[in-house]
Formats: sequence, C-alpha cells, structure tokens
Amino acid sequence: MNKTEASAPGKLMLFGEHAVVYDRPCLVTAVNQRIRASVSPNPNNAVRINAPDVNIRDYEVGVEDLGNNNQTPKGIKFVEFGLKNFFEKYHLSSGINVETHSDFSSQFGFGSSSAVTVALLKALSIQFNTNTTNQELFELAYKTVLDVQGVGSGFDLAAGIWGGTLYFVGGGKEITPVSIDHWPIVVGYTGIKADTATLVNQVSKLHQRQPTIIDQIFDTIASIVTKAKECIGRNNLEQLGELMNLNQGLLDSLGVSTQQLDNLTIAARSSGAWGAKLSGAGGGDCMIALVSNQKRSLVESAIVSAGGQVLTVEANAPGVRQE
Ligand code: MEV
Repeated sequence: MNKTEASAPGKLMLFGEHAVVYDRPCLVTAVNQRIRASVSPNPNNAVRINAPDVNIRDYEVGVEDLGNNNQTPKGIKFVEFGLKNFFEKYHLSSGINVETHSDFSSQFGFGSSSAVTVALLKALSIQFNTNTTNQELFELAYKTVLDVQGVGSGFDLAAGIWGGTLYFVGGGKEITPVSIDHWPIVVGYTGIKADTATLVNQVSKLHQRQPTIIDQIFDTIASIVTKAKECIGRNNLEQLGELMNLNQGLLDSLGVSTQQLDNLTIAARSSGAWGAKLSGAGGGDCMIALVSNQKRSLVESAIVSAGGQVLTVEANAPGVRQE
C-alpha cells in the first residue's frame, strides 16, 4: 500500500486521575481534537519521521536502531518506540516514512503523546495488514508509553482507541463504554504546561511516605468514580458536580492542584457551575466545570477573569479511525 493515514482523538480526564495509576477506576472522555499519523514505504530502508507540530523535520534512524538512540528528540519518542514495538510484534523490518499532524497544541494536556501513538499504530496495522484488534492496539500502545515514560495507567490510550466516554481501570483491566448524550462541560486552560511523569512521581513519593492515608484517599476517589458513573446513568448532573468538587478536594490533598487551578475552579463554582475540578495530572494544564446551558457564558467569563483561557472542545468524540 502506498500511504495510510489514521487519526485518534485527544482526551479529557473526568474523574479519578492519579488513583487510576494505582489500579483504581477512572472516567475519561475522548475530545474532538485529533492527531493524524500517516505512513508510507521508504525505499532507502530507513525510518524517516516528520512531525512539524513539534518542529521535527526529516529525522532519520535505521530500522535496526529504532529505540536504541539516546538522542531521539522528546517530541517523537512515542513514534520511534511505537514503530519499534510494532515491528517486533509482527517480525517486520521495513523502511518507512511517518508524518504526524495535530489539531491541538501539545501544551493543553489533551494527551498528544497517547493520541499520536494510537494513530501511528492504527496506520501501521492497516499498512501491513496485521488485523490488529483494539485490545492488541491497546497493549502495543501501553507498552510504548511505559517504554518512553515509565509510568501511566493507559486511560488516555483507551480513549484514543475506543473513543466516547469510558469507565477504565488502571492498566486496562476493565474498559467499559459509558453512555451519555452530551457532556455539559466548560474547559479552562491555566496557561501552564504540566509534566505528567513528574506529577505521577511526586504522588508516588507521597504514597511511599504515607501509604495508609494515600491508599484511603485513592479508595475514596474510586468510590467517587463509581458514584459518578451511577449519576451519569440517572442524568443527575447536580450530584455529578458535587462529586467533581469532592474529587478536586482529594486531588488537592495529593498536592497536585495549583494556585491557578484553584482560582479557575473557584471562579467556575462561584459563577454557578454544578462543580469543577482539575483534569489530568494537575500542576497546570486544564480544569473542567460542569455547567447548565443558562450558566455557561457566566462560567466562561469567570474563568477568563480569573486568568484562564476557555478551550472549545466537544466530549464523546469517536475513537481511532482510518482517514
Ligand atoms: C494524567 O492525565 C492522569 C494520571 O492519572 C496519569 C495516568 O493515569 O496515566 C495522573
């Protein structure tokens, strides 16, 4: 095949971040901001990667050297390790060109690394006709994330693959679609880029110092996630908002909220949101607020007045697909 292109959505964590790294459940939704990856044969038997969104042009590496080069630029590590893991699994060794494009900035914390990994692996599976199932795609993508980042629950990969809204248990032990027609959320960006691995490691150290207390916090977050899933089923948005606030309090106790995230969540609540919390690793990136139609513009203005940027995204987006 000449050229194959696939795209995968970014994600927003709704409930359960950090606890999900410790095998608890979370709720995640895919967003309508996608990353595309295209692959085509490279006649010189080399791997050539172009990723203009992260300023990488014509990066070349030998097929046999994939993943062995300590100099791989950060922006394309997931692509390089994804290729390596795919070739290893299917005993392939072919020159290939890869090009990636993103609808959204990697600054926002929508999971550009996971989306690019999923889109790449899907494009490869079509190009090489490997009949890779979604579950196998998840396993390959999860191995890639662990190879590059060392930590992570894989929730963002599941959102990229299956799309929609998912109940996800750490490492992919359970992945169940959750049905909701529309997520009435506002997304506020703090303007600060957070590093997920740093925050996960920070929580891990706290967990080592205070194992009993932190495990209890994770268990309470797990109860919030279970309750939130029930509330979605009953369309009880007011209670869902209350659960967001409780989740935010526990994330604060884990030390991952910041002054900016607090400012934006408090502004959203004071202007009438049902609830608000940080979304993702914390330390910056985004917060989400659950709002009625009547309060939406008030909440958006309050977030902007508190120094945030409102991002226009739709939740429940479709998962990975061929373009
Ligand atoms: C980061 O967006 C969410 C974390 O739970 C990490 C993960 O689940 O991989 C902090």
